[in-house]
Amino acid sequence: MDTKNQYIAVFDSGVGGISVLRHLRRELPSERFLYFGDGANAPYGTRPTEQIRDLTVAAAEMLMGRGIKALVIACNTATAAAAKQLRQKYPERIIIGIEPALKLAADRYPGGTIGVMATPATLREGKFARLMDRCADSCTVVKLPAAGLVELVEAGKANSAEAEALLHPLLTPYVGKLDAVVLGCTHYPFAADTIRKLLGDGTTLLDGGAGTAIQTKRRLAQAGLLREGEGEIIIENSLNRPETITFCHTLLG
Ligand code: DGL
Repeated sequence: MDTKNQYIAVFDSGVGGISVLRHLRRELPSERFLYFGDGANAPYGTRPTEQIRDLTVAAAEMLMGRGIKALVIACNTATAAAAKQLRQKYPERIIIGIEPALKLAADRYPGGTIGVMATPATLREGKFARLMDRCADSCTVVKLPAAGLVELVEAGKANSAEAEALLHPLLTPYVGKLDAVVLGCTHYPFAADTIRKLLGDGTTLLDGGAGTAIQTKRRLAQAGLLREGEGEIIIENSLNRPETITFCHTLLG
């Protein structure tokens, strides 16, 4: 197949990367996307780094083997644990990894206080520590590890009483104190209503989905690999359950 017509693979531990696929579809309507969620092994964000790396590399190998023109790691946790290894392993390939949009928040709120909601794994990685260092002069960063939220999103309970009960103790101490909250896990935009309800209107929610889509477009354009014509989206999940695929299509809208 002509390289231009090959799929752009979009990978996440589960359904969260659909929040990134929404931006990709808007930015690149003529592209063919192959979305793969590793639901059988989700959540990644409470696993040891080594395991997250092995799972991510295995998924990437499988996707690379299917003749793709680019890989979008639509999972902050997988990017933090494995993007470096994947770029070393596949130096010729286009690999884009989403990261918490802290730089965007720091630029928008200089001198402000920014919360970063992410998985425990993302927040403990060196990659995040370096990102925080780069923003340390311009803002104060509060880490908000939201263990348990990914499971609720996977179960279709992103905006439920359960989600509210889980997030209440994490977020209410910061009501009125944060200029912005970065949603540093691709599952969390689906719980935005609950997060907004708890934090109130004074806090802006930001995520890296739009930036990742723009970067993907730029990289494909640089490589002369942008496609024309009608786009396509295929969704697969290691859970092999039709209802999971239907759920993904619902989230995609
Ligand atoms: N969606 C992933 C992220 O962006 C994490 C989900 C998980 O913990 O499996 O970090």
